[in-house]
Amino acid sequence: MRGLVLLVLTEVFLRYCDSRQFAYKIDRYIITCHTTDFECFKKQYKALRDNVLLGNDRLHIPTYEHYVFAYGPNTCVKLSGLEESELVSITFESDPRKYSLVLELPLRIQQVKSSTKKCAAPDRAFANVKNHVGPLMRFTGNATIGITYPYKLKKRKGIVFMQLEDENLDVILDIPDLSHFHMNSEVEAKLYRWSEWAYEVVQHVDAAENFALPYTTQLRSLLDHIPLHKFIMLYPEEEYLDLQFNYSETQLVTNP
Ligand SMILES: *[C@@H]1O[C@H](CO)[C@@H](O)[C@H](O)[C@H]1NC(C)=O
Ligand SMILES: *[C@@H]1O[C@H](CO)[C@@H](O)[C@H](O)[C@H]1NC(C)=O
Repeated sequence: MRGLVLLVLTEVFLRYCDSRQFAYKIDRYIITCHTTDFECFKKQYKALRDNVLLGNDRLHIPTYEHYVFAYGPNTCVKLSGLEESELVSITFESDPRKYSLVLELPLRIQQVKSSTKKCAAPDRAFANVKNHVGPLMRFTGNATIGITYPYKLKKRKGIVFMQLEDENLDVILDIPDLSHFHMNSEVEAKLYRWSEWAYEVVQHVDAAENFALPYTTQLRSLLDHIPLHKFIMLYPEEEYLDLQFNYSETQLVTNP
């Protein structure tokens, strides 16, 4: 495995319509968890992913747009996979206050005809990509997105909210090195070529900024509008002021 580590400190901000109505409607999509229940947090994440973070017409939350960037004269490359992301770690620290999540997802890197999509300019231009002929390229790797939000606790009308600050993103794209594959096998030779292609094209974009951030921004904006007790249920001896816990999947792979 080889990884690309991309760090970005963000300053983007997005706001939803700020109303009590919003909090009321969104309630049905939020699973409330005890601080001891990692399985519950995983379900909570999935419910938010499917019903809120990827967009929700009824709540006027814009649909998450796949990141598509120009590649050569007549095609683009689409990155996707967040719709299948899973929560593999969650951490709360109280001093200083930090809320961290780690997501794992299949990273689909797919060449598409540019006529079907409006494509962004890549961060680093491609040189010498010819007009594309033949089958379009595609490869699926994996990605790990580490998100850390510093936060403050705010009380509004006696109710505690968590106000997240700009997140720190740590995005690792795993595209395997298949050079050990047998080049006299047609299938293996093709996979090798496609993985090399995928590895090359992702070097041209800042995946943290363009792929992960539009998604993690949705979560930041959301939490600002929902009382903390909807997300985290305390035991009698616990307090939001010193929220501190840490869970992760045992097979979690950290930076190579
Ligand atoms: C992606 O991760 C899954 C689960 O860990 C693994 O089975 C799969 O081989 C990985 N894919 C690639 C292309 O590395
Ligand atoms: C979370 O726990 C893991 C191991 O249990 C540890 O390595 C890690 O440093 C902890 N992280 C935090 C932020 O407490």
